[in-house]
Amino acid sequence: MQIESGVSLKPYNSFGLPAVAHTLVRIASDADVRRVVDHPQLGRAPKFVLGGGSNIVLTRDMPQVVLKVEVTGRALVRETDTAWIVEAGAGENWHEFVAWTLAQGLPGLENMALIPGTVGASPVQNIGAYGIELKDRFESLDAVDLVTGRSVTLASGICAFGYRDSVFKHSLAGRSVITRVRFRLPKPWQPVLGYLELERKMAETGISAPSPQQVFDWVCAIRRAKLPDPAQVGNAGSFFKNPVVTPEQCRDIIGRDPEIVHYPMPDGSVKLAAGWMIDACGWKGKSIGRAGVYEKQALVIVNRGGAIGSEVVTLARAIQESVYGRFGIRLEPEPVVV
Ligand code: EPU
Repeated sequence: MQIESGVSLKPYNSFGLPAVAHTLVRIASDADVRRVVDHPQLGRAPKFVLGGGSNIVLTRDMPQVVLKVEVTGRALVRETDTAWIVEAGAGENWHEFVAWTLAQGLPGLENMALIPGTVGASPVQNIGAYGIELKDRFESLDAVDLVTGRSVTLASGICAFGYRDSVFKHSLAGRSVITRVRFRLPKPWQPVLGYLELERKMAETGISAPSPQQVFDWVCAIRRAKLPDPAQVGNAGSFFKNPVVTPEQCRDIIGRDPEIVHYPMPDGSVKLAAGWMIDACGWKGKSIGRAGVYEKQALVIVNRGGAIGSEVVTLARAIQESVYGRFGIRLEPEPVVV
């Protein structure tokens, strides 16, 4: 276990926002978490678990003990007639893990290619893209309790996955460190191609039965065309969730804005495209200070260079106010503001 002080978090958050961790501990194993729990000073101090930093807005220095999860390892742990079970350390980069599964001939995660962040953060957010959510491929995870130091294995039910949501954002927030995640990849593999942009790729290329690698390449191309690469332009992916409303609320909005992009959900509710609403309010390409709205996708807030967290928060609030003013809908941010 390595304990460091005065560590800049700028390289460790995908927005590239400045903040300093007074104390940072690198976690390479479950035993490292237990060493923190048993430590005379660190044990009692408030803690903040940092994964890939792709879902946070840092607005200040961190007085908490920052636990930077760096557990590595990837393996096929089990194969049955109906599935491959693969496991990865929480500190593994998500996209590299997805690419690795395909190289091993273990398909099933390709629709979620290029999502920034780490494997350990994937269940927290229940990440998802192009028709698949993490919960659709989840088997179980290992975590260490930050109070008792006990290791536990959690199955899907306990994780309470919802749209960009899980128990780790609620009752278990700050309570445990996820160290490993296992995925169930169903056999035989079947492509998930229902998403409009993937259907477009099939039509363009004339390929109606793509391989897993082909789907992976399509997803990467679609994302690269409209989402900024955090290595070049600081961002945290979609900044707001797509709001879910009742059919009555939707009808009311359609009455005023017939063009609004919306998707009926299986439970009867309706999901509205937040990006469309922000775009309709004229935000695309606009900035407040050094924080701006991405030119190709209004749902993404970007760091135009040297931004600080409060500029991102100010811009986000201004967007929320104008969307509320026009549509009567309160947009909820996806990233955690710290
Ligand atoms: N739209 C606009 N203007 C914009 C942005 C979007 O008119 O500036 C319209 C689009 O034309 C489209 C609709 O809004 O008709 C929805 O946009 P898009 O298909 O790009 O998807 P999204 O709803 O914006 C969601 C996820 C993404 C995920 C994609 C693909 C959320 C908050 N976002 O985006 O997830 O990659 O679907 O599945 O659910 C993330 O969470 O960080 C993320 C990138």
